[in-house]
Amino acid sequence: MALNGLLDIEIAVSDPRALHSFWTRHGMVATSDHVLGTSDRPTQLRLKEGAYRHLTKLRLSCERESDLTDIAQRLGDAGISASVKDTTLVCTDPVFGHVVEIVVGSPHPLTPTQDRAFNGPGRAPRIDTRASAVLDRSTPAPRRIGHIVLGTPHFAKAVDFYAALLGFRISDQIRKGLATFMRVESDHHNLMIQPGPTSYLNHYALEVDDVDAVGLAGTAVVAENHEASVVGVGRHNLGANVFWYLRDPAGNMFEFFSDMDQIVDAETWDRVHRRLDWEGEDGPAGFSVWGPKDPPPVFFNPPDIAEIGAGRQAAGLD
Ligand SMILES: [Fe+2]
Repeated sequence: MALNGLLDIEIAVSDPRALHSFWTRHGMVATSDHVLGTSDRPTQLRLKEGAYRHLTKLRLSCERESDLTDIAQRLGDAGISASVKDTTLVCTDPVFGHVVEIVVGSPHPLTPTQDRAFNGPGRAPRIDTRASAVLDRSTPAPRRIGHIVLGTPHFAKAVDFYAALLGFRISDQIRKGLATFMRVESDHHNLMIQPGPTSYLNHYALEVDDVDAVGLAGTAVVAENHEASVVGVGRHNLGANVFWYLRDPAGNMFEFFSDMDQIVDAETWDRVHRRLDWEGEDGPAGFSVWGPKDPPPVFFNPPDIAEIGAGRQAAGLD
């Protein structure tokens, strides 16, 4: 795989300071006054001030310099200009309008999670003590940005840009492209494209250590703002991640997730598991295996969607 990592994202919000402060209260590391990271990765979320809420930059990594020239060639053939300087390619997403930067490298490795001991029938690794989630209720630290989801009326064009031109691998599709899960790492998805009333950032997703960490991290956000929860906790079908979706103070939906399907042998995945024609809300393509069966309407239609549409129009984007 040429592309090999989702490095970080940059988002524009009306009050970056408030969002920065929120994330430092919820376990992210303040690398600077506009950059947030994690213990392993100093840059995960860059913040800037903007007239409306949107993704401004997506940074990816690839294996070698020849990958950059290959990508630039494919972009050029499709009429999309890209500049390659040293070990960096820069272009503009033709649908959403954000900058895509690809550098030769890879994401910094993650320090492995320390396993919690879970008791079960006939198996009790934790005896004579309380569960770690009971003993330590401190806010779990997000470990990395794992994926983003983008909504757009131009989802076929967007998928073509990421899959055919940049080289994302498609892990699953609902109704042959209505929703497309794509990856550059072993995660089932680092990017998902789905329909939307305008082109917008649906959510960014932060991986936490395990299911208890999803619960503890979400609970800490809700303790601060009782209105913050959007939907969760549950386990998704496609990707299988345990999720809790919440809203940050800037109005962005974000997800705490854990335990996503990992794809290392792409050939086996494509042959045995992948489907490009998943159907319907019930069954394997549905929203959840357990937990809420359907997300609320705001999941696909955030309260500020008209503002985002107007902001894009003012910026000359459709
Ligand atoms: Fe997600």
